[in-house]
Amino acid sequence: MSKPYDIAVFGASGFTGQLVARYLASKTHDEGFKLVAVGRNREKVQKRLKEVGVTADVLVADSTDEESLRNVLKQVKVVASLVSSLSFTRYLH
Ligand SMILES: NC(=O)c1ccc[n+]([C@@H]2O[C@H](COP(=O)([O-])OP(=O)(O)OC[C@H]3O[C@@H](n4cnc5c(N)ncnc54)[C@H](OP(=O)(O)O)[C@@H]3O)[C@@H](O)[C@H]2O)c1
Repeated sequence: MSKPYDIAVFGASGFTGQLVARYLASKTHDEGFKLVAVGRNREKVQKRLKEVGVTADVLVADSTDEESLRNVLKQVKVVASLVSSLSFTRYLH
């Protein structure tokens, strides 16, 4: 089955997810892959992507919601997950 996206950054609204999304977005043109960002809050993911100058489609998924994860996997070949409930950044604020 053909999938529309090559790589997903899951947790793209997080600190590390933002960095990974920015890095991968810088490679999409030369490497020719299609990137998608994934998170549980579409608006938050879009805001965080904008902060680092990334334009990408967004899929909504929550790691506790199996159906939403299956929906992502139907559309993506590889998932880079930066999802975590143990946040480093929480302690910086
Ligand atoms: N920060 C660092 O310097 C650093 C260094 C090395 C390794 N890491 C690793 O990178 C990972 C992420 O750390 P971080 O500091 O980037 O954390 P973070 O900024 O708190 O980001 C956590 C991400 O996980 C998402 N998330 C949490 N629960 C979720 C759920 N149930 N379903 C979907 N998404 C969920 C958050 O989404 P919401 O925005 O919706 O809450 C957010 O996008 C951790 O494994 C950490 O050990 C971090």
